[in-house]
Amino acid sequence: MDQAAIERLHERAFGPGRFARTAFRLREGVPPDPALSFAAHVGTFLVGSVKVTPVAAGGHTALMLGPLTVDPAFEGRGIGAALMNRSIEAARAAGHDLVMLIGDAPYYARFGFKVIPPGQLILPGPADPSRFLALELVEGVLAQRRGAVSPLRATPRA
Ligand SMILES: CC(C)(COP(=O)(O)OP(=O)(O)OC[C@H]1O[C@@H](n2cnc3c(N)ncnc32)[C@H](O)[C@@H]1OP(=O)(O)O)[C@@H](O)C(=O)NCCC(=O)NCCS
Repeated sequence: MDQAAIERLHERAFGPGRFARTAFRLREGVPPDPALSFAAHVGTFLVGSVKVTPVAAGGHTALMLGPLTVDPAFEGRGIGAALMNRSIEAARAAGHDLVMLIGDAPYYARFGFKVIPPGQLILPGPADPSRFLALELVEGVLAQRRGAVSPLRATPRA
């Protein structure tokens, strides 16, 4: 994947403030899963990107989706939806059970994301609770996940 082009897209969409965001903190130092992260191209031009990073949520591995970014010149053509659907299907096929994100509920509701009951999963920084969303890939799994959401650190070998 063209990391430099993806980074330029993120800079245009989110600006320098993106580094201070809670979602960014959760992903810091943990590479996105390349099997669940996709880019969209028109010709050779990168027009969209979605990344998915494994995190810990209430003592279990879950997925944090984001950023999802589409070049403003290419918005409204279904690129965001195509990237979302591809990522979600890949996550399901890989056997994951829960995808979380911080974003606009009115956009993500179409993919099945719902607001996480406030206080159930605790982010490592500030976030509007109405923007902290989850998609269950296994029905009922969200109710079983309680506690901290934190970066997934590699477990040191004994
Ligand atoms: C949000 C974003 C990824 C959507 O990508 P896209 O390729 O334009 O999305 P799609 O073409 O699949 O869907 C477009 C539809 O979503 C709607 N939509 C876009 N952003 C929305 C939002 N924030 N809230 C509600 N609906 C939204 C559009 O109005 C359009 O509706 P329609 O299908 O009824 O016409 C893109 O606008 C973007 O990159 N924005 C800046 C970064 C960002 O906000 N990322 C997401 C973090 S919340």
